[in-house]
Amino acid sequence: MNKKSFENQQKEQQRRIKDAMLKVKHKIAVISGKGGVGKSTVTVNLAAAFVTHELHGKIGILDADITGPCVPKILGLKGEHLQGGPAGIAPAVSPYGIKATSMAFFLPSDESPVIWRGPLKMKAIQQFLSDIIWGDLEFLFIDLPPGTGDEPLSIMQLLPEMDGVVIVTIPSEVSQEVVKKAVSFSRKLNVPIIGIVENMSGFVCPECGAEYDIFGSGGGQKIADDLGVPFLGKIPIDPQVCEDSDRGTPFVLEHPDSKSTKAFMEIVEKIEGFLKNETRRNEVDDSSNKDKSLHLNEEEK
Ligand SMILES: Nc1ncnc2c1ncn2[C@@H]1O[C@H](COP(=O)(O)OP(=O)(O)OP(=O)(O)O)[C@@H](O)[C@H]1O
Ligand SMILES: [Mg+2]
Repeated sequence: MNKKSFENQQKEQQRRIKDAMLKVKHKIAVISGKGGVGKSTVTVNLAAAFVTHELHGKIGILDADITGPCVPKILGLKGEHLQGGPAGIAPAVSPYGIKATSMAFFLPSDESPVIWRGPLKMKAIQQFLSDIIWGDLEFLFIDLPPGTGDEPLSIMQLLPEMDGVVIVTIPSEVSQEVVKKAVSFSRKLNVPIIGIVENMSGFVCPECGAEYDIFGSGGGQKIADDLGVPFLGKIPIDPQVCEDSDRGTPFVLEHPDSKSTKAFMEIVEKIEGFLKNETRRNEVDDSSNKDKSLHLNEEEK
C-alpha cells in the first residue's frame, strides 16, 4: 500500500471511530502501572454499579487487554463468540445487561494465545471502537492492561475526548512507585485524572474480626496527595470479591450490603461528582463562548 492510500485509510478509520463515539456520552478508562492490582475487577464493578442507576443496556465495556483479556470471565460471558456482519459486530450482553467486547470473543479457544506486536494491537482497538455496534451508551468503560504500553497509548490517542482515567493501586510502596508513571503518562497525553483507587486495602478476618494491613495502608491517599490528584477511596481485600469475579457475577450486584460494596459505592459517588463538575465546566465554557461570539457580532455591527 502506498503512503497516500495508507493515510486515506487511517482518516476513514478515524472518521468511523468519531461517528461511533458520538453516541457514547462518557468514556472512562481504568489504568495502573502495575499488574494484578484489580483494574478489571474495578472496571466491571463500575459498569455494574451504573447499571443499577436505571442504565440497563446503556453501559459498555471495552476490554482493551488484547493479550490477557479477563473481562468476559468476570462479567459471566466466558465462552461467548462474536461474529461480524456487513453493518458491524453486535457486542455480547451480560446477564445484567452490560454490553462488552473483548479479544477473548474472537479467539478459537480460551487457551489460544495472542502473540501480536504493537501495530496489530492498535488495529484491534481501532476496530473495537469503530466496528462494534454499541448504539446509544451512557458510559463506555475501558479496561487496560498494566503499564503504559501500546494499548493505553492507542486508547488515549484514538479517544482524545475521553472524560478521564481512574488509576488503581494497592497500598504497597512498590505499587505507588509505578502509579507515578501512570499519572505522568495521563498528564503527558492531556487526559484528565478522575482519581486514584486503593484496592486490596486491609483485610478483616471473618473468623475473629481482627484487621490486617497485608499490603500496608494509606499508600493510595499518600501518593494522591503527593501528586496532587483526587483520592477516590479504598476497597478492602475481601474473599467474596474474588469468588464473585471467578463466578462471573459483579460483587456490587451480588452482595449489595457488603463492606466492600459500600466502600465501592462511595468511589462511584465521587466519580459521579467528577462528571457533574465536568458537565458544569463544559456548560460554562459553552455559554462564555456564546457570549464572546455575541460580543464579536455586536462589534461587527
Ligand atoms: N478487593 C479485592 N479483594 C479480593 N480479591 C480481589 C480484590 N480485587 C481484586 N481481587 C482479585 O485479584 C485478582 C486480580 O484482579 P484483576 O484481574 O482485577 O487485576 P488486574 O489489575 O486487572 O490484573 P492485570 O494487570 O493482569 O490485568 C483477581 O483474582 C481478583 O478477583
Ligand atoms: Mg486486568
